Amino acid sequence: MTVLLATRVAHADAAAIAEAAGVLSIGGLVAFPTETVYGLGADATDGHAIARLYEAKGRPAFNPLIAHVPDLGAAQALARFDNAAARLAAAFWPGPLTLVLPRAAGCPVADLASAGLDTLAVRVPNHAVAHEILSAFGKPVVAPSANISGHVSPTTAGHVLADLGGRINLIVDSGATPVGLESTIVACLGEPLLLRPGGLPRAAIEHALRQKLANAPAQNESAPLAPGMLAAHYAPRTRLRLAAAGIEPGEALLAFGPAPAEGAGRAKAALNLSAHGDLIEAAANLFSHLRTLDAAGASAIAVMPVPGNGLGEAINDRLRRAAAGR
Ligand code: TXA
Ligand code: MG
Repeated sequence: MTVLLATRVAHADAAAIAEAAGVLSIGGLVAFPTETVYGLGADATDGHAIARLYEAKGRPAFNPLIAHVPDLGAAQALARFDNAAARLAAAFWPGPLTLVLPRAAGCPVADLASAGLDTLAVRVPNHAVAHEILSAFGKPVVAPSANISGHVSPTTAGHVLADLGGRINLIVDSGATPVGLESTIVACLGEPLLLRPGGLPRAAIEHALRQKLANAPAQNESAPLAPGMLAAHYAPRTRLRLAAAGIEPGEALLAFGPAPAEGAGRAKAALNLSAHGDLIEAAANLFSHLRTLDAAGASAIAVMPVPGNGLGEAINDRLRRAAAGR
């Protein structure tokens, strides 16, 4: 049974950071900003806190979580870094990159966090508020995106409150998250594998590794490599129609770039991911625009084509999942 909590929203000042560390230390749930999206944090060493986190999110318990730490030294206490992992951490941490690594001997993260796997996902976020909370708390924090399972990820404190109000203790608010897409996930368990495209473009990773990055083999329901990446993960309630050149009556429009969509004037609601065609701006707007258009009561959301280079790979991945997810 879900217990109803009074969820406090606190502006991210020194008092809120101390409060966040205090709530985490007694097994509570705190949503906080990272550079990618808002995360829902719990003490990674406390199995009961993690169980409450799964319940609050309505997340299937087989879905493993990312352990967040303030720096590389803290990550090395949790997991083993091979050469590729060390190179990627040096190049991109703090930043929107998650590494899936073998657990270190004596890793204090609760088994429930990695859902029984002998690997652990770790990340050092590049956000001052996240860094201060992690430093003040002094232990790893597991933090999935702070949305109800199956909803799009939250990029503002308001999104978090809409999904998780009454289910968590505290939301630390510091405005919209700058990147807007979840971290890129790379497994370093042998040949490096791209498990999830995200806020760090593939080309940057390939440049740092001086090699092409293999894609994870096609995921299936019974043995997913990154279980959150099942096709149906990101799903607004409204149907998405991808690669739309124009819009049909009753549809809302998610535009990209300066060229107007055919029939745009009759859209029930219209938003542009980036009128300049800037993929970084488009990534930052993606989840927030999907939420807004989902609330417009449209028959479908017509989505104009988005190029696949740079952050476009992750944007198109999330759009395909959102389209498949109903
Ligand atoms: O940007 C982000 O990564 C955000 C912020 C809050 O840090 N977090 C986030 O967490 O997106 P979540 O739980 O929504 O997505 C984590 C993904 C899931 O697809 C999960 O299955 C995968 O990471 N994952 C976690 N541990 C794993 C492991 N040991 N092996 C493979 N995949 C793993
Ligand atoms: Mg998520």
